[in-house]
Amino acid sequence: GGMGRIWIVVESLYSMDGDFAPLKDMVALADRHDAFLMVDEAHATGVYGEQGRGLTVPYEGRENLLVVHTCGKALGAAGALVTASGVLRDFMVNRCRPFIFATAPSPLMAVAVREAILILQQEPERQQRLTKLVAFAHREMRERGWKSPSDSQIVPCIVGDNARTMRLASALQARGFDIRGIRPPTVPAGTARLRISLTLNVGEDDVRAMLDALIEETKGELQ
Ligand SMILES: Cc1ncc(COP(=O)(O)O)c(C=O)c1O
Repeated sequence: GGMGRIWIVVESLYSMDGDFAPLKDMVALADRHDAFLMVDEAHATGVYGEQGRGLTVPYEGRENLLVVHTCGKALGAAGALVTASGVLRDFMVNRCRPFIFATAPSPLMAVAVREAILILQQEPERQQRLTKLVAFAHREMRERGWKSPSDSQIVPCIVGDNARTMRLASALQARGFDIRGIRPPTVPAGTARLRISLTLNVGEDDVRAMLDALIEETKGELQ
């Protein structure tokens, strides 16, 4: 009963649980209610979809879809880019106050982003290698009797207690693994966690060693 158009805003891959939004349902929901769908691909850009274009690839070209790709994560630069229909683009160019009144991003950054996109287009083996590594990690987790709630490159290990989470993170860092503890309010109270992010900087042996260390440090009490 409100005024104006409805906007549905989701992340395609959630940053703290590593789970995926049901995009197909979201697209149908937006169509049913004549709504816009805005998808933040921050953690999927460069990792999922053809040429790393994210999880919205099957819906590209839709008039009611607006996609945000951050450039500071997999693309290794900074800033973000938006893909949308011409009408939405013109609307943003004319009405987005931060876009109109902030200094434009450096052209150097645009060059870095363009190079990153070219690498994604020309070297699909990087994406394939990461997909393989993620599948390997989840297989190894299952073999160790631990199933993380995620299926993606973001692997949360829910600990619960804040102090214990930070102690575990320090212990794993001391063993050479760059694993950070995440506490409320970044995540809901009682769900403090270790957040493992798999990248191409590591190989299968590192993943195995990391999981062994994790199980040792948590005394096998992984959730
Ligand atoms: C889901 C999501 N969107 C957007 C951003 C913002 O990215 P940036 O800081 O590169 O602008 C982040 C940053 O962590 C994020 O997690």
